[in-house]
Amino acid sequence: MDLEERITEALLSPRSKSIMLLGGPDTGKTALAAIVADLLSKKGRAGVLDLDMGQAHIGPPSTIAWGLVEGGFKRWEEIKAEGFYFTGALSPPGNMLPSLTGAKLLMESAQAKCPKLIIDTTGLVTGPIGRLYKQYKIDLLRPDVVLAVQKNDELEHIISPYTLMRSPVIIRLKPSTLTRIKGIPRRAGFRAERFRAYFEGSRVFEVDMNRCGVRYTRDGGEEELEGRLLSFRDHAGSDICLGVIEKADLNNGLLIVRSPLRAGTVYACIIIGRATAVF
Ligand SMILES: Nc1ncnc2c1ncn2[C@@H]1O[C@H](COP(=O)(O)OP(=O)(O)O)[C@@H](O)[C@H]1O
Ligand SMILES: [Mg+2]
Repeated sequence: MDLEERITEALLSPRSKSIMLLGGPDTGKTALAAIVADLLSKKGRAGVLDLDMGQAHIGPPSTIAWGLVEGGFKRWEEIKAEGFYFTGALSPPGNMLPSLTGAKLLMESAQAKCPKLIIDTTGLVTGPIGRLYKQYKIDLLRPDVVLAVQKNDELEHIISPYTLMRSPVIIRLKPSTLTRIKGIPRRAGFRAERFRAYFEGSRVFEVDMNRCGVRYTRDGGEEELEGRLLSFRDHAGSDICLGVIEKADLNNGLLIVRSPLRAGTVYACIIIGRATAVF
């Protein structure tokens, strides 16, 4: 698919340092992110910030992540996560704090290294949750350009209040005719495949909760912990690896965790999420 000239021009402008994609599910945001990444990375270093924790193309599901694209976009699988942030969830509702906080932190790291950054987002655009989540994300990340992909006018409740603002420049476009509806089963299948690949070759080991910090992305562990995802965070506050809780013995502060974390890796804190990993 070729982008219209007016869009290419806006994206290549030196003023367009960050470009956010907005649209409902299956409107071709991720496909468009690849096309934009291809265009921009042929002119210089481009970053992609993947904020879709449910259909994560960079990093495992439940995380948001960013990676580098140089000399043209090839495949999502080839983009290594330069940084990731665990949201503890597979969709934003109920998890907006970790999702927005992570988005801001990753955006800062990515922009420090990339003159151009493409921001892919979830398809959550309906109702008050979609409106607030996307508007506050725009306010927080301050993209220079928003590419708004809409079939009808479903994004207007989010973007129309920005009409008189100097930034972002909002470019409206229709979904490509090549866009295919993935639906819930294919989405779940993609996620399971990503989890399988991530946890392949994991080891099972004990985590002593008395010897590291313990946080939760949502509730405080009153509910069942078995099956839940967690993240190991280092002393600088960066997530280093995910794990899945196989057994929890809270009386003794012990967790049995399956994770690809290398033996001997030092971590300062574990963050226990709400979502479980379904393989
Ligand atoms: N321009 C395009 N060319 C070919 N296939 C496309 C194009 N845009 C979308 N698709 C296909 O449509 C489906 C949905 O697109 P995707 O980018 O994943 O949507 P979104 O990220 O908005 O949920 C995918 O299977 C994708 O491969
Ligand atoms: Mg997508």
